[in-house]
Amino acid sequence: MEKRVISTEIIPEDTKIENSLRPLNLEDYIGQEKVKRNLKVYIEAAKERGDSLDHVLFYGPPGLGKTTLAGIIANEMGVNIKVTSGPAIEKPGEMAAILNNLAEGDILFVDEIHRLNRQVEEVLYPAMEDYEIDIMVGKGATARSIRLELPHFTLVGATTRAGLLSAPLRDRFGVVNHLEFYNVDELKKIVIRSSSVLNVDIDEEGAYELARRSRGTPRLANRLLKRVRDFAQVKYDGHITKDVADYALNLLDVDREGLDRNDRLILSTIIEKFGGGPVGIDTLAASIGEDSGTLEDVYEPYLIQNGYINRTPRGRVATKLAYDNLGIEFQE
Ligand code: ADE
Repeated sequence: MEKRVISTEIIPEDTKIENSLRPLNLEDYIGQEKVKRNLKVYIEAAKERGDSLDHVLFYGPPGLGKTTLAGIIANEMGVNIKVTSGPAIEKPGEMAAILNNLAEGDILFVDEIHRLNRQVEEVLYPAMEDYEIDIMVGKGATARSIRLELPHFTLVGATTRAGLLSAPLRDRFGVVNHLEFYNVDELKKIVIRSSSVLNVDIDEEGAYELARRSRGTPRLANRLLKRVRDFAQVKYDGHITKDVADYALNLLDVDREGLDRNDRLILSTIIEKFGGGPVGIDTLAASIGEDSGTLEDVYEPYLIQNGYINRTPRGRVATKLAYDNLGIEFQE
């Protein structure tokens, strides 16, 4: 059966390229070894039983492969995938209609699932647990609720932080996976794979330089690859070497350690405005003009994991590494 991705959204050019770079099966997926190993078992077992896969939750910073893995699950299970997101579904009836239109075994992928509103979320509880929903028909005195049987579908949810989900929703996922930042070696393989898909001429050292400066994130590595390719094409002979990558990445404001302008703004704000910290997340977010949730889920994880920021009970503190990055003298 031909697989369909059902989506009503208008897809911008960059997203189309991003989609073309997504691997379609686990075999071609690089990194996240533990997640991959487990999924492989669950998929194989479900297929052997002729069952649908249990509901799966992916959480972790953006760009690490949550959507890609949802697509791979659908492909490996040989079912269709319907893609939507938390903020896109506003009414319980919309969720009921989506669920009712699924076929046996289908995947419903809900990105940013923590942003579903309460009423919509409540439709999901009986749907996930017993594959049924209650819908109201009629109005006023004749209103009554009827029970609708649903196909055995698989909900694949994605969120930046598992803690953002309500406990009843989180508890209904049988498989919960944390996606981690990729190491340089894995990112280098991804850059080389993407270069081959996009017909980009790159050498080992060029790929390494790109990988090293991509914040552990495949989506970023692929974006930077496309921009660096443009520089290589216009300024050089189209071939990406370490020097070409370095030249282009500097112009793109990606520093030698792979930090971008936002990262440096966060670090310099902690150091220059708050004496190196500790500073509370809300105060820090307000002073860089960012939402504190975005700061916490999008920017901070990489900075914390790579030792630029410490999270303390009294707030965020810049480390020596942060001072060194900005060329500011560190005093104990
Ligand atoms: N493109 C984006 N993410 C990827 C991954 N994890 N493996 C292979 N190609 C990718």
